[in-house]
Amino acid sequence: MSVLLELDHVSKRFGGLTAVNEVSLSVERGQIYSLIGPNGAGKTTVFNLISAVFRPSSGRILFEGQDLTRLPTYALAGLGIARTFQNLAVFKHETVVNNLLVGMHTHLKADPLSAAIFWGRARREEIRARERVEEIIDFLEIEDIRDHVVGTLSYGQQKRVELGRALAVSPKLLLLDEMVSGMNQEEREDIARFILDLKEELGMTVFMVEHDMGIVMDISDHVCVVNHGRKIAEGRPAEVAANPAVVDAYLGTRRAA
Ligand SMILES: Nc1ncnc2c1ncn2[C@@H]1O[C@H](COP(=O)(O)OP(=O)(O)OP(=O)(O)O)[C@@H](O)[C@H]1O
Ligand SMILES: [Mg+2]
Repeated sequence: MSVLLELDHVSKRFGGLTAVNEVSLSVERGQIYSLIGPNGAGKTTVFNLISAVFRPSSGRILFEGQDLTRLPTYALAGLGIARTFQNLAVFKHETVVNNLLVGMHTHLKADPLSAAIFWGRARREEIRARERVEEIIDFLEIEDIRDHVVGTLSYGQQKRVELGRALAVSPKLLLLDEMVSGMNQEEREDIARFILDLKEELGMTVFMVEHDMGIVMDISDHVCVVNHGRKIAEGRPAEVAANPAVVDAYLGTRRAA
C-alpha cells in the first residue's frame, strides 16, 4: 500500500490557542481512516488544514508526495480532494440533480472562454458530467428524490446529497466531517454501507471524523485519536479502543461535562 496523504508535524495556532499540535499521520491509499477525539480536540481544524481552509502554522501536508502548503487554494480541487462539512452544505432551493451538477461544474476544466473556442470539448464534458450524476444517483440510491428541492428533504437525505456533491468530482481522497451526526439509526447504517462501498467497489480513500464509535469500530482500517490538539494514540480499531490513554481522554471529558 502506498501513502496518499501525510501530515508531518503539523500545528495550527489561533492566537494563544494551539488547536493542532505537532500532529503527524499518514493515510494509505484505499483505507478508511478515522480521526476521533473529544469535542474541541482539533479534528475539524485538521480537516480545514487538509482542505486548505487554513494554512498550518508549521509543518507540512503532503498529498501524493506533493506539498499542499505550497499550493494556492484554487489549485487544490483539481488534485482530487473533496469534503463534506460538519454543518450541512447544500443548495437548499435547488433540486438534487442540480446540486450534483454544481458539484461537477466546479470541476469542469472548460472555462467560459475556452468553452466558446473549444465548444466540442465543453460539450463532451457536459455529457460526461450528466453521466457522472447518473452514476452517483444510482450509487446513493436517490433516484426517487432526484427532482425534489433539497430543502424539502429529511436531514439524512440532505446529507446524502452533500455526499453526492463531494463524489461528483471523483475524488481520490474524501474527507467526511461527522457525516452521521443528527441522523437516525437506519440513516447511519445506510451511510456506513455507502462508505464501505466507496472503498471496496471504487477503491476510494476515506478520511473521516466521527463521534459514532459503532461506525468507527465497524468500518475503519485505522483510527487516530487526538486530544487537546495532540495525537495520543493510533492503530487498528480494537487496539485503540483498549488503549488506556484513549479511555482516559473520553472519561476525562465526561467527568468535566
Ligand atoms: N477559526 C477559529 N478561530 C479560533 N479558534 C478556533 C477556530 N477553529 C477552531 N478553533 C478552536 O480550536 C479548537 C479545536 O476546534 P475543532 O473545531 O478543530 O475541534 P473538533 O475536534 O472538531 O471538535 P468537535 O468534536 O466539537 O467538532 C477549539 O478550541 C476551537 O474553539
Ligand atoms: Mg469538529
